Amino acid sequence: MDIHLLQQIVHKTRDARRTQTLPKYSPAERDTLIKKYHPDFRENAYRSIKFGPNKGELTVRELATLLEGDSPVPADLDLTPAHTADVLVVGGGGAGCAAALHAYAQGAKVFLATKLRLGDSNTVMAQGGIQVAITNEDSPIQHFLDTLKGGHMKNDHQLLKVMVEEGPSVARWLLGLGVLFDRDADGNLHVKKGGGSSKPRLLTCSDYTGLEIMRVLKDEVLNQKIQLMEFSAAVELLSDGNGVCTGAVLQDLDNKRFMVVAAKTVILATGGIGRLHIQGFPTSNHYGATGDGLAMAYRMGAKLLQIDTFQYHPSGAVYPEQLIGALVTEGIRSEGGHLVNAKGERFVNELDTRDVVSSSIIRECEEGRGIRTMSGRIGVWLDTPLLEVEQGPGTLDKHFPAMVRQYKRYGIDIAQDPVLIYPTLHYQNGGVQINVDSESGVRNLFVAGETSGGLHGRNRLMGNSLLDLMVFGKRAGITAATRTTSMKQGKLTLEHVKRFREEARKHGVSSGIVSPMLFPAYARKE
Ligand code: FUM
Repeated sequence: MDIHLLQQIVHKTRDARRTQTLPKYSPAERDTLIKKYHPDFRENAYRSIKFGPNKGELTVRELATLLEGDSPVPADLDLTPAHTADVLVVGGGGAGCAAALHAYAQGAKVFLATKLRLGDSNTVMAQGGIQVAITNEDSPIQHFLDTLKGGHMKNDHQLLKVMVEEGPSVARWLLGLGVLFDRDADGNLHVKKGGGSSKPRLLTCSDYTGLEIMRVLKDEVLNQKIQLMEFSAAVELLSDGNGVCTGAVLQDLDNKRFMVVAAKTVILATGGIGRLHIQGFPTSNHYGATGDGLAMAYRMGAKLLQIDTFQYHPSGAVYPEQLIGALVTEGIRSEGGHLVNAKGERFVNELDTRDVVSSSIIRECEEGRGIRTMSGRIGVWLDTPLLEVEQGPGTLDKHFPAMVRQYKRYGIDIAQDPVLIYPTLHYQNGGVQINVDSESGVRNLFVAGETSGGLHGRNRLMGNSLLDLMVFGKRAGITAATRTTSMKQGKLTLEHVKRFREEARKHGVSSGIVSPMLFPAYARKE
């Protein structure tokens, strides 16, 4: 049936839904729901890793293949450095920029290499806000408990403690740099509530929080004497031959030439993995989110954590086709937007944790209460016009201008019509194991942001990613820079690559896959 006719049911059932009782799950029922419907529990999507630091552990097939992939760098590459630095930062998103700025502030010579342009990252696409416990009714302890609960108690307590405690100082730093967070009529910072949180603690810039934060961080990087190299993807790390990181090999995307950067310390901040399209899921992620840092750190010997768990954000666009997988911010549900099935009923508390909401949506669709588009995709409704009905005309325009524009481009007015959504691959819950200073198990190799793991447990809460980037980007930058004052540049070798290739041969791995892959398979090659 035509999608516009199907939308009518959302308008017609609005009054009835106001008095509807929502399902309330006991902890055991939540577990059962997640195990039955969440994509993390589809056994045939997983296989064990054949060799390396996580040998024998289960992860999704796409990631296992990436981790076992071969380096693009030839064994006899001339390792004469084209550049030298105290601190090499790989990645130009939020974590990379924060790390570079803090390292530079310590007096280090900083080199920032990024695969695309400065700022091209998942950070820039973050819509919903940054969680910081700043109100009188809230506290870092409450933030800690909410995050722990959301993460199924699997979060690293030390990392989490640091993140929640340093939230307020990070917010002050961002305000000082010029980030324009939303304020109330009295000029005080305005906070919103995200899913799984007991208190409102999201600082927002409408629905383009990440874009606003990146605007300021980018300016700041460009204003400092930080050497910046764009369109230069890191494809391999360098070691001193004894497991210590000493630099990286970059590849110029224009002419494909390799470039060696000698650095006393390296910070990997290459972001997530959405563009691997795990289990065939569409993604809300940036085009360059291909898990490059995971592959390089793994070859170097760094252990990864919780790589069997991924976040499927409940509301990815299903229609129109041009927007498939694009994020429809949780902020709309925070403001009261209902999720509605084909029968015109709500079926979950929209502000439950993302794994519960996504599992519930998948259940509705699998049990025949989803809505099918003409191209055969399936989803449930998010009642966006409800916000206009409840809070007055212009509400969406005021609070969600980016979302309104995103749909308007395709002739859809979300103030008039509900939007069709389905879970989209959004975040890699795990990543490289780090300590509280953001250092991995490999000496002088630091990892910050989505590439790292342990902080969020098995399910990240909305707004904790932007805070993670800022806190651990800062810690990586400071520690990596401080250390360089008392050390010399180490030898540059590819010994770890040689060893990795021997291991691959020993385990009969010859997939022909080169990693990092840098771009999704469907990328235009020019
Ligand atoms: O829904 C959102 O705006 C997403 C935010 C987040 O993942 O932190």
